[in-house]
Amino acid sequence: MKLSIVAAVMAACSTVLSSPVHEKFKHGPLNVTTNGTTVWNRSNHSNISGGAAGAVGTKLKVIITGGSVPLSNASQFTNVEWQTLFNASSTLNITQLYNVASTVNQTLQDDTYSGVVIVSNQRSVETLGFFSAVVFDTNKTVVVSDDYASGIYVAKDYGSQFRGALTVAQKSGLIYSGVFAPAERDASGVPVGLLYDKQVNWFMEPSLPLLIDTTSPIRTNYSNFTTTNISTTPVVPIIFDGNFSQTVVNRLTGSINGLVVAVPDFASNSTASTLSSTQIPVVFAQVSSEIPFVSGDDVPSDAIAAGYLSPIKAQVLVSIAAANNVTSPASVAQLFP
Ligand SMILES: *[C@@H]1O[C@H](CO)[C@@H](O)[C@H](O)[C@H]1NC(C)=O
Ligand SMILES: *[C@@H]1O[C@H](CO)[C@@H](O)[C@H](O)[C@H]1NC(C)=O
Ligand SMILES: *[C@@H]1O[C@H](CO)[C@@H](O)[C@H](O)[C@H]1NC(C)=O
Ligand SMILES: *[C@@H]1O[C@H](CO)[C@@H](O)[C@H](O)[C@H]1NC(C)=O
Ligand SMILES: *[C@@H]1O[C@H](CO)[C@@H](O)[C@H](O)[C@H]1NC(C)=O
Ligand SMILES: *[C@@H]1O[C@H](CO)[C@@H](O)[C@H](O)[C@H]1NC(C)=O
Ligand SMILES: *[C@@H]1O[C@H](CO)[C@@H](O)[C@H](O)[C@H]1NC(C)=O
Ligand SMILES: *[C@@H]1O[C@H](CO)[C@@H](O)[C@H](O)[C@H]1NC(C)=O
Ligand SMILES: *[C@@H]1O[C@H](CO)[C@@H](O)[C@H](O)[C@H]1NC(C)=O
Ligand SMILES: *[C@@H]1O[C@H](CO)[C@@H](O)[C@H](O)[C@H]1NC(C)=O
Ligand SMILES: *[C@@H]1O[C@H](CO)[C@@H](O)[C@H](O)[C@H]1NC(C)=O
Ligand SMILES: *[C@@H]1O[C@H](CO)[C@@H](O)[C@H](O)[C@H]1NC(C)=O
Repeated sequence: MKLSIVAAVMAACSTVLSSPVHEKFKHGPLNVTTNGTTVWNRSNHSNISGGAAGAVGTKLKVIITGGSVPLSNASQFTNVEWQTLFNASSTLNITQLYNVASTVNQTLQDDTYSGVVIVSNQRSVETLGFFSAVVFDTNKTVVVSDDYASGIYVAKDYGSQFRGALTVAQKSGLIYSGVFAPAERDASGVPVGLLYDKQVNWFMEPSLPLLIDTTSPIRTNYSNFTTTNISTTPVVPIIFDGNFSQTVVNRLTGSINGLVVAVPDFASNSTASTLSSTQIPVVFAQVSSEIPFVSGDDVPSDAIAAGYLSPIKAQVLVSIAAANNVTSPASVAQLFP
């Protein structure tokens, strides 16, 4: 299973490697400075686990939001601080996501930390991974996992920097960008690396997905999406195509900030559905066990196509926009791939 995935990715890489690396993906080592003094650079951060306990610039913070965390084993990791926020067993809601975000934001602004690991229940990994990828504009390491040890092994690897938020699943060891966080434990898609026997094997050079790279609309036009103290609680339900009529949608528009319409797998053409609105963003996203796709041609003219984003990721993106008062369908449409 693992080997076949690795082989497929390697085959994909060999074609990619023959094309020139775009300038914007080139970067020097990440130097962390405090008051202008370099506290660590690539050469000594790469051996972070061997650093003196509490050494400046090499600490990792593990933030626990749920999942099983047998802390009896935690002492095997040096230079790691632990913080428990809550013990959620269901998927984290937007209030909880922003609660996590302010803790993460404070930690990342402190250059004594090289990054954070967020441990969550397995159902929240997709939500939290995607949310983290959009909200944390950082070159430091952010890893979301259902298993604290897997998260720490990935975060302690120097190559986890410059990639935006990542997710790693304990069972498969597959590492994904948060933008492509799998919807289910073993879902397919293109991983960026594999954690195997505590060692990370990276498949790709560090880079950011286009959705959140430095030239993306999210980073250029909506740089306020990194705000972590929000005052409103967005309501963005996911409904299944066919279960609701336009009348219901019209009646809901006063009380919701957006709507995600989940369309079935293999439905290449959703035009059968006419749900749309000129007041709130209505996003069509595909439920898929593989990489979903809904194109602009497939949706009613006032609706938005989620592209390769799943219904859950679309819901998170519309919620982040609404939390920042970006609610017009035209503005929200710009955010989608
Ligand atoms: C880090 O410092 C090295 C040596 O001074 C420099 O070559 C490199 O460009 C710096 N990296 C960044 C990201 O600023
Ligand atoms: C940074 O510099 C300022 C002013 O020189 C000083 O007050 C502050 O304590 C320094 N901070 C650290 C962490 O060294
Ligand atoms: C890492 O290297 C910097 C100089 O580049 C040095 O000042 C710092 O003390 C080193 N940190 C550790 C933990 O060895
Ligand atoms: C990191 O710091 C060490 C010690 O100061 C120095 O020898 C080394 O050249 C630096 N490496 C980079 C990549 O800047
Ligand atoms: C990392 O640091 C530890 C403790 O200082 C040392 O024993 C080990 O050899 C170092 N590993 C590498 C790869 O430099
Ligand atoms: C705890 O650590 C022991 C020894 O390192 C290891 O065998 C065991 O699998 C660990 N348990 C968990 C739940 O990580
Ligand atoms: C989010 O979940 C928490 C804990 O279950 C709950 O107290 C809170 O009311 C929920 N918030 C929303 C907006 O659903
Ligand atoms: C933390 O939040 C502030 C605004 O509240 C934002 O400017 C900054 O970019 C955030 N930091 C990170 C690492 O996302
Ligand atoms: C990340 O590093 C690049 C240099 O490689 C720099 O241009 C960019 O501003 C950094 N981003 C953040 C959020 O610090
Ligand atoms: C989708 O359906 C519409 C109307 O039936 C049709 O005009 C269009 O060509 C279809 N698109 C695809 C990609 O099949
Ligand atoms: C965030 O930025 C967008 C685009 O500039 C703007 O429309 C929106 O009002 C801003 N939100 C907040 C809360 O300032
Ligand atoms: C965002 O919208 C809320 C509710 O309409 C309003 O109270 C708040 O002032 C707005 N914030 C900005 C920055 O426009």
